[in-house]
Amino acid sequence: MSPLSRLRRAVGQLLFERRYGVRTAELIELGELGIDGENRGYYVPASWRTLRRTLPRRSVGERDVFIDFGSGMGRMVLEAARYPFRKVIGVELSDRLHEIARQNVARTRQRLRCRDIDLVRGDVLEYPVPDDVTVVFFNNPFQGAVFTTVIERLLESVDRNPRPLKIIYYNPVEEAAILGTGRFDRVRTIAHARQARAGSPFGWTRVYTTKLG
Ligand SMILES: C[S@@+](CC[C@H](N)C(=O)[O-])C[C@H]1O[C@@H](n2cnc3c(N)ncnc32)[C@H](O)[C@@H]1O
Repeated sequence: MSPLSRLRRAVGQLLFERRYGVRTAELIELGELGIDGENRGYYVPASWRTLRRTLPRRSVGERDVFIDFGSGMGRMVLEAARYPFRKVIGVELSDRLHEIARQNVARTRQRLRCRDIDLVRGDVLEYPVPDDVTVVFFNNPFQGAVFTTVIERLLESVDRNPRPLKIIYYNPVEEAAILGTGRFDRVRTIAHARQARAGSPFGWTRVYTTKLG
């Protein structure tokens, strides 16, 4: 990305933060938060507009429920709450990030379309997948066995309560764990960064939906 594009992008992201009066932009090693470990790495938010670019407004109805696994300071929770979702959920391991997300939501709730926002402080492995979730967001929050377990639990939830499920995956490092189940089709790929290159998961956002039938 050229220095000018980088500057434009940074200013655009800051304007969003100003407009909402929130703080979500930062890169933090999880070691600094005391929660580093195998299968997880860092906090860095997805770009504002990621949902706008991957989730058409008309595809979301009042029965839909959104969840961000590893929701950090809540940027994607805020973005999702601008859609007519029935409920928006964020699950975050770090106390500090969860608390910032809570403050961000408290500041903006009145301006959001969906007001039923549930921020959960905890490990995704201890969080039971609700059987009404229909749109799932991952911004490369964890890898390996943790990611595989969450995908298995999502499919168990679909088996308990059959419904179409959509996954939006920003930097899809563990895409093979989704496609390897044989239960999802990849339906969309967008580049969210100029440095997106074929063969690398970084710089791409991909959308998957459960297969019909
Ligand atoms: C790359 S950040 C993404 C933040 C947010 N989704 C966004 O795009 O703005 C990944 C987040 O996942 C969280 N995380 C990592 N492992 C987790 C786990 N086992 N349970 C819950 N959250 C986790 C991290 O603390 C971090 O905030």
